[in-house]
Amino acid sequence: MEELLRMEGISKQFGEFFANRNVCFEVRAGEVHTLLGENGAGKSTLMNVLVGLYQPTSGSIFLHGKKVKIDSPAHAVKLGIGMVHQHFMLVEAMTVFENIILGDRRSKKPFIDVKERKKEILELSWKYGLNVELDEKITNIAVGAQQRVEILKALYRGAELLILDEPTAALTDVEVEGLYSIIEKLKAEGKSIVFISHKMREVLHVSDRITILRAGEAICTLDADKTTSQELANLMIGRELSEPIYSKVTQPGDPVIEFINVSYKKSFKHGGLSEVSLRVAKGEILGIAGVDGNGQSQLAQIAAGVIVNESGEVKLKGKKPSTFAPRGFIDERVSLIPEDRNLMGLVGDMSIEDNLVFKSTEDVRFSNFHGWLLKKNAIRQYSEELRDKYDIRCQSVAQETRNLSGGNQQKVILARELEAEPDLLIAVHPTRGLDIGATRYVRDSMIEARDKGCGVLLISADFDEVLQLSDRIIVLFEGQIMGEYSGKNPPIQEISLAMAGK
Ligand SMILES: Nc1ncnc2c1ncn2[C@@H]1O[C@H](COP(=O)(O)OP(=O)(O)OP(=O)(O)O)[C@@H](O)[C@H]1O
Ligand SMILES: [Mg+2]
Repeated sequence: MEELLRMEGISKQFGEFFANRNVCFEVRAGEVHTLLGENGAGKSTLMNVLVGLYQPTSGSIFLHGKKVKIDSPAHAVKLGIGMVHQHFMLVEAMTVFENIILGDRRSKKPFIDVKERKKEILELSWKYGLNVELDEKITNIAVGAQQRVEILKALYRGAELLILDEPTAALTDVEVEGLYSIIEKLKAEGKSIVFISHKMREVLHVSDRITILRAGEAICTLDADKTTSQELANLMIGRELSEPIYSKVTQPGDPVIEFINVSYKKSFKHGGLSEVSLRVAKGEILGIAGVDGNGQSQLAQIAAGVIVNESGEVKLKGKKPSTFAPRGFIDERVSLIPEDRNLMGLVGDMSIEDNLVFKSTEDVRFSNFHGWLLKKNAIRQYSEELRDKYDIRCQSVAQETRNLSGGNQQKVILARELEAEPDLLIAVHPTRGLDIGATRYVRDSMIEARDKGCGVLLISADFDEVLQLSDRIIVLFEGQIMGEYSGKNPPIQEISLAMAGK
């Protein structure tokens, strides 16, 4: 196969720190080439260099054998390189069509021929099976559809090389299958894809070749059909990981939270809850299984005091909560790992240390006079302890969290929420975007919290995760509970059907 792209000796430094060091990476026409590596290994940085968001500190890029200097994302687009970022970059208030043509300068005319453009985009979408509603607003469409818009946008701009940075992290199983078949069609057209994912099974399934990054360096490139997930894990983190088997609790304690006929926007199939009754007891993990967007977010937010139920009753440790606000719930030792870490979990402009303590500024460990005078040294020391304990990869705890890799941002939230020693832990997609080592750490930590008596409400779109961790399982579909199952020898077939509303 012909070489399309070659990155040669690429280094990218942030200050003294090497996010990429002397990386060589080559992509052939018509191949899916995966970048695999731990959180913070430098995958997104390397691709940001490729699309001109960053200038490399040293090294060269060749396209079709010709050296190029890519100085902006617009320039990358002109060269046929498109990227779908880890966090989508669509304008929510605009329609699908407006997002696709946004910033496209191909037309020399002062106005845009809307009809003509729509026709072109639709033809392209049929060709690759990228179904989208052009006139719908971005806020109104599912995550999977937003991703198709991003891909379509890149293809409409003439991408030959498409970079997909963790494209399946937030997709449902059906959407993931859809994406795989889109990738097949793109390959058949001779387009190349750089794929980034932490899911081993998936990486082996979609890739032709795999390049492993470790601490900023490219370790090796392998053919996907000549390797195994064990070998990949070994190369990536330097050790093998066996599948853990966790014990299941059958005798939980008193309830920490109860929902009695709780409803919220009952008529909304995808954003409501209808007459939900459930209970999480001390020392157990209740897993909520179900396809994303069936009321899980609302369930988590009510349980954390972020939104208030419209009818029914919520009891926290046997009592009606005194204040229906996050602060009141935090005082009752409720911790939340939210589904959107950027929106609800972290303040990106703040340092790691400030993010770690901002809920506990009145804690005597960190301040005098009820939060008026912060003990800077104590906060620094505490943060460095947590950095080591949770393996947060950063240059310094004084660094802004926005510059951390996706997985390491998640670890900051986890550290803060678990260290609060909660009585109730609400964990929404707690391992999304985490590498295999970190995923293992988080799951072990949840089991450990449970064994210490914490009640855990686990909401996850990862069915394997729910099965592995839960002592009891509830299936949510269109805001309603479809059934409850024991976590010990759960009837997998039956639960799958319930998840589909059957
Ligand atoms: N703008 C920046 N300033 C300082 N450091 C940065 C910046 N961008 C990235 N880094 C650092 O570079 C390293 C590599 O980050 P990168 O986002 O490339 O990792 P990744 O492999 O994509 O990880 P993940 O799987 O978690 O997404 C991290 O340690 C990160 O903190
Ligand atoms: Mg990344």
